[in-house]
Amino acid sequence: MLSLTIDGKKVEAEAGWTLLDTARQYGIEIPTLCYHEAVEPFGACRLCVVELRQGNASRLVASCVYPAEEGLEVHTASEKVNNVRRWILEMLMSECPASQEIKEMAAQYGVETTRFEINDPEQECILCGLCVRACAQVVGANAISTVGRGAQKEIGSPYLVPGDACVACGTCVTVCPTGAMRARFERVRGVPSVVMARSVK
Ligand code: FES
Repeated sequence: MLSLTIDGKKVEAEAGWTLLDTARQYGIEIPTLCYHEAVEPFGACRLCVVELRQGNASRLVASCVYPAEEGLEVHTASEKVNNVRRWILEMLMSECPASQEIKEMAAQYGVETTRFEINDPEQECILCGLCVRACAQVVGANAISTVGRGAQKEIGSPYLVPGDACVACGTCVTVCPTGAMRARFERVRGVPSVVMARSVK
């Protein structure tokens, strides 16, 4: 077992656990968006950021992908961490302003508005790719992927060509942290192989 501290509390972790795994074992809450325990973590949204301190040095890491290590001093809610989380949430509010889930999470951190430009007021998807990974790793369907580039990036059937890989299981809807896949499913009434989340009105 590895010994470390989280928020001043001595904790133990098994080799292979991440900092998020370890914190959750001890009931220490760290907010996440692109993480789901059934899916390999990817570290896309960075909302799970925590601070590692060593002497006067400090750095920020994404707890869902950073491994627990012997002797680490981890802080999950320091001023530095909360400032970065607020900044991330502001960014997300500008990228997907239509997501109620993001608004609610931002409000918990006192973020009510964003200073950043809003390009699409109806956007809900943060392109974290959790739906894509769940479809591949949990369902084994590979029915959706990230397609397009830059501002045109979206989640859809590969090459945006409708196919028969989608089994309409709704896993993508279940894992989506912003409600984007639910909204899309409602629009198309769950019709298989037309699941798309971004830039689709
Ligand atoms: Fe860790 Fe998104 S939850 S990076």
